Amino acid sequence: MAQTLTILGLESSCDDTAAAVVRQTEGQAAEILSSVVHGQTDLHSAYGGVVPEIAARAHAEKLDICVRQALAEAGVTLADLDAVAVTAGPGLIGGVMSGVMCAKGIAAATGLPLIGVNHLAGHALTPRLTDQIAYPYLMLLVSGGHCQYLIAHGPEQFSRLGGTIDDAPGEAFDKTARLLGLPQPGGPSVEGEARQGDPKRFRFPRPLLDRPGCDLSFSGLKTALMRMRDQLVAEQGGLTRQDRADLCAGFQAAVVDTLAEKTRRALALYLAEAPAAPVVAVAGGVAANAAIRAALETVCAEAGTRFTAPPLRLCTDNAAMIAYAGLERFRTGAPDGLDLTARPRWPLDQSSPAMLGSGKKGAKA
Ligand code: KG4
Ligand code: ZN
Repeated sequence: MAQTLTILGLESSCDDTAAAVVRQTEGQAAEILSSVVHGQTDLHSAYGGVVPEIAARAHAEKLDICVRQALAEAGVTLADLDAVAVTAGPGLIGGVMSGVMCAKGIAAATGLPLIGVNHLAGHALTPRLTDQIAYPYLMLLVSGGHCQYLIAHGPEQFSRLGGTIDDAPGEAFDKTARLLGLPQPGGPSVEGEARQGDPKRFRFPRPLLDRPGCDLSFSGLKTALMRMRDQLVAEQGGLTRQDRADLCAGFQAAVVDTLAEKTRRALALYLAEAPAAPVVAVAGGVAANAAIRAALETVCAEAGTRFTAPPLRLCTDNAAMIAYAGLERFRTGAPDGLDLTARPRWPLDQSSPAMLGSGKKGAKA
């Protein structure tokens, strides 16, 4: 008989405290029974970035509230659950520990199995939760702390084709906004400005396009932007609204071109494995960017490959993705013990050479 699993998921690796309940009957689509996310943006906004100690304390205060709310909204009790899944890394260590301790408390009190989930696997498996896509698929993870191309072969089997060697694209959008005095998070404000701007007025570099492979680099864009901004300020004594819009448009065009070309290369490597039903999926907060999405759609259409992006609330940090990743792991492997440890760094592809982008988590991942 097809087994039905109901899993509670917890997420606290950056600045979102989240709990969710996901249910799936084997062979059927998974159902998100609840997904509660309490953001901490207000707590950190005065500091211009996430303050780890403040984040950890806020997670510890909010986790049990989130769990209660998630159970109530799902209409279940702890007795209805089959396991509790929790982000065990990578992330800000204090926050990850808050989640792991909370999950351990629930597991110890109820006897429920405990599953430690890699936060990045949560993002990477989301297209299976939302669209039931089959392995292997090509995944582009683009967020505030990460940028990598992965081929997902299974719930814990990922091959990393390449990634950023410095900043993540979301980080580059956030820094661009800061340099131009635009509000945080930078992604939506820079995208909004770019809509009014001329992408050709300022010529930004296309980093690493001259080198083979799928690695990316975004930190040079910020330096280029700073130089252009300073030159305008020196010449005219400040920036006009149009200058800002044109700088944003030029910056965004460079990110779009770079991601499009690297996606073309990653797609060629993936298609060389001859997948039966090729799919490219994107996840992470930067996937909200309409210009980036459109460019990726075009690249996939050119190659005759299906493209999918989860709805935005499941692209950004949430606990439904952790519950779902836990569910897949629970079906295929043994759960963890109460000795589960929090791991600040935890690359998805253990066999790929260590680099900043592979297990790093900046402000967010
Ligand atoms: O996935 P997310 O919520 O957090 C993690 O990084 O895990 O992503 C947040 C990042 C921020 O850097 C934000 O500026 C960026 O995603 N972002 C965008 C857009 N919306 C959010 N970047 C570009 N364009 C957007 N429309
Ligand atoms: Zn994340």
